[in-house]
Amino acid sequence: MAGKVMHAVQFDGYGGGAAGLKHVEVPVPAPKKDEVLLKLEARSLNPVDWKIQKGMLRPLLPSKFPYIPASDIAGEVVEVGSGVKNFKAGDKVVAMLSHTTGGGLAEFAVAKESFTVNRPAEVSAAEAAGLLVAGLTAHQALTQAAGIKLDGSGKPTNILITAASGGVGHYAVQLAKLGNTHVTATCGARNIEFVKSLGADEVLDYKTPDGASLKSPSGRKYDAIIHCATGIPWSTFEPYLSEHGKVIDITPSPRAMFTFAVKKITFSKKQLVPLLLTAKRENLEFLVGLVKEGKLKTVVDSKHPLSKAEDAWAKSMDGHATGKVIVEP
Ligand SMILES: NC(=O)c1ccc[n+]([C@@H]2O[C@H](COP(=O)([O-])OP(=O)(O)OC[C@H]3O[C@@H](n4cnc5c(N)ncnc54)[C@H](OP(=O)(O)O)[C@@H]3O)[C@@H](O)[C@H]2O)c1
Repeated sequence: MAGKVMHAVQFDGYGGGAAGLKHVEVPVPAPKKDEVLLKLEARSLNPVDWKIQKGMLRPLLPSKFPYIPASDIAGEVVEVGSGVKNFKAGDKVVAMLSHTTGGGLAEFAVAKESFTVNRPAEVSAAEAAGLLVAGLTAHQALTQAAGIKLDGSGKPTNILITAASGGVGHYAVQLAKLGNTHVTATCGARNIEFVKSLGADEVLDYKTPDGASLKSPSGRKYDAIIHCATGIPWSTFEPYLSEHGKVIDITPSPRAMFTFAVKKITFSKKQLVPLLLTAKRENLEFLVGLVKEGKLKTVVDSKHPLSKAEDAWAKSMDGHATGKVIVEP
C-alpha cells in the first residue's frame, strides 16, 4: 500500500465538537515490524474520544495534532510487519489502538499484533468493535475490582450498575448476570424494558426520586456498585452499600478521588475504587468468545458511514446512546 492515500477524519486542535472534525486524504500507514495493517470494517466511538478533543486529558492526550481519533476497530488484515507471526492477509480481526496515536476514523489503520485478536465468522465487525473500551472496562470492573466470577461459581453478590443503557453499562449487566449476582440497574424510562432484557433483575428510572435515591426496590444492600454514570456523590451511595461494599467509579471526579483517599487512609470498610482500563488481550479474546457463543451481545445504538463521522461524534457527545455508536466504511 506504499504511496497510496486514504480517507480519514481528524481534528487539529482542542474543541469544536462534531464541527471540529475534518475529512482529509492522508497516506495509508505502513505497518512496523510488530504491526498489522487493517482495512477497517467498523469502529466504535467512546466518550474518551471526544474528551480528548475537548482537552480533558491534556497534556497527555493527544500526543500531537492533527489527531485521527478512535481506538476500537475491526477489519481485515491486508499487510503484516516482518515480525508478525500470528496473522496473514485476509484474516478478520478486532484490535485496539493506543489513544496516544489514535487512528481509527480512517479507511486503514495499523494495530500492534499484541493487541489484535481473531474474529470468528459468527461475530460481526460492529459487534467486535463495540467490545473494546466499553466491554473490557465492564469486564475489568466486575472481575478485577468487584471480584465476580463469570462462571457463576462465586458467592451471591448484589450489584448496582448505573447508566446500564450505555456502552459500558449494557455489557456490565450482561456480564454480571453470568456470575452469581442479583443486578439492580439504573437508566432512563425509555430503556427500562431494554435493560431488563439484558438480564437486570430490577431497574430504576434515574429521573424519578426513587431512581435518584438508588434504593433497591427489593431492599438489598449493594456489595458492589459499577458506577458508569457521573455526578452522583458518595453520600447517595453510602446508605445502600453493604458492610464491605465498594463503589467502582469509572469516571471519578476530583471529589471522588478525595473520597477514595479518605476511605483508604481511615481503613473504611466501605471503599471507593477509581478504575482506569488496563486493556488485556486475553480478556478481549474471552469477550469475543462470549459473543460467538451467544452469551454476550453488542447492542448497536446507531451506525454511521465514515463520510458522516461527525453524526456519530455528535451522537456520542450527546450522552444518550443506547449501546454502542458504530462508524462503518
Ligand atoms: N475509566 C475508564 O477506563 C473508562 C472506560 C470506559 C468509559 N469510561 C467512562 O464511563 C462513562 C460511561 O461510558 P459509556 O461509554 O457507557 O457512555 P455512554 O454510552 O455515552 O452512556 C450513555 C448512556 O448513559 C445513560 N445515562 C447518563 N446519565 C445517567 C444517569 N445519571 N443515570 C442513569 N443512566 C444515565 C444514558 O441514558 P439516557 O439517554 O436515558 O440519559 C445513555 O443511555 C463515560 O464517562 C466514559 O468516559 C471510563
